[in-house]
Amino acid sequence: MLAIRLVAEPDRLDTLVLPLRPAGKGAGGDAPAVPAPTAVALPDGVVDEAAALAPAARLTGRAGELRAQFRPGRTPGLLVLVGVGEGDEASWRRAGAALVRAVADETHITISVPADASPAAVRGLYEGLLLASYRFRLTDAGDAPALTGVDLLVADPEPYLAVVETARTTARLTRWARDLTNTPSSVKNPEWFAEQVAARVAGVPDLHLRVREPAELAAEGFGGILTVGGGSAHGSRLVELDWRPADARTHVVLVGKGITFDTGGISIKPVPAMKLMRKDMAGAAAVVAATVGAAALRLPVRVTALAPLAENMVSGSAFRPGDVVRHYGGTTSETTNSDAEGRLVLADALAYAVQELRPDLLVDLATLTGANAVALGKRTGALYSENDELAAGVLAAVAEAGEAAWRMPLPADYVEYLGSELADLYSAPTQGAGSVVAALYLREFTGDLRDRWLHVDMSAPSWADADDAELTKGATGWGVRSLLRWLATLG
Ligand code: BES
Ligand code: MN
Ligand code: ZN
Repeated sequence: MLAIRLVAEPDRLDTLVLPLRPAGKGAGGDAPAVPAPTAVALPDGVVDEAAALAPAARLTGRAGELRAQFRPGRTPGLLVLVGVGEGDEASWRRAGAALVRAVADETHITISVPADASPAAVRGLYEGLLLASYRFRLTDAGDAPALTGVDLLVADPEPYLAVVETARTTARLTRWARDLTNTPSSVKNPEWFAEQVAARVAGVPDLHLRVREPAELAAEGFGGILTVGGGSAHGSRLVELDWRPADARTHVVLVGKGITFDTGGISIKPVPAMKLMRKDMAGAAAVVAATVGAAALRLPVRVTALAPLAENMVSGSAFRPGDVVRHYGGTTSETTNSDAEGRLVLADALAYAVQELRPDLLVDLATLTGANAVALGKRTGALYSENDELAAGVLAAVAEAGEAAWRMPLPADYVEYLGSELADLYSAPTQGAGSVVAALYLREFTGDLRDRWLHVDMSAPSWADADDAELTKGATGWGVRSLLRWLATLG
């Protein structure tokens, strides 16, 4: 991860970054951008040069706009102008992301933070720099970016120290969730995932981990998790990670779907649909990373992450379409499509949370249906809750974090599709909107927490086809930023 420091005196000025803002609308269209007021004195003439370059290069100051000017034999040797738009957090996030890509060949840069930059602006810059510079590689081959150090030049670091700590933790854990999700499933099985969590939390005070293995899952009746993993050579696991600070008044349970590979099972997926199914544990990665983040930031709220982990494979021991699954607590599901496996493992974890953990709030994140992208496109999660206040709180956190979600309804007229002649519920209806019906099925396991439950189908935003602002091609770590923002509002 890039080393970013707040400094009051420039240390080395080989590459200097100056922010530009829009000057406002002129009579004849957009006026050229102007340099933001600097907090610290810079080498003579540099700001004037930037002010002259902006109109010459037709810069408007929109967030993420970039212009690099080499100045051989002078200091700085490279002057980079970056647009920061309205100067809000989202604009700075975008600017930081664009900048870190543009200067990847430099080893060190110094960014002049404007005198009037808010702590939120610095948070956006920080997260943009750290998230857009993420790379996932299993080999050293190929050229790694040269950039290792970034200095943020400020008059006084003090007002920014707290947000910097939050931003660094948020970015670090989002990057970890991306790592877990990008890892190929030849490496990533339920046991491996649980080991990664164990290594990450070892020695953190007040953070407790329990991992259930197949024998314990069987003894306690976690039939959904065991059934889905039944076709795999790698046994299922249930990760229970508990951040329990002494001063907590609210208890939140976060459940994340953890299918380490989804072939579809006997109802096998076609080749194109199966290609990316190593990402089918992105919900589990997000909830575990957010819980580690809550502990790192010592948020005064109890958070328990539950990650039901299984590999949905095709073999002689795989479950069959038409089998009846008995979930934790005894509810049964008939399933005629082994590709609707996520809801079966989530049902166990939700029922366990409701019956044994009895939290104040219950939230689950899952790469649950392809229908999420059909309804809402590539970047937006489908959010469901009967609780307006809870939905509004999470939606606000999602927006501030720079992620996206859209609230969806839980219509009564689809509930009849969940009826089964054999069992309590039918898990794979073919009627109704796919993401909505999946949410209605999960709701059946929320018991007396039904109106304190929130579900996000995050299949679509869990993955990016190409680099895009702070997202990098591949796993996005969707949900870590949103959950940490939201958890910080509780307590
Ligand atoms: N993991 C998939 C959902 C998915 C699809 C995630 C595409 C990300 C991208 C899930 O297990 C699944 O297969 N869902 C089925 C449900 C159907 C069988 C009721 C689907 O969406 O087709
Ligand atoms: Mn599936
Ligand atoms: Zn799946």
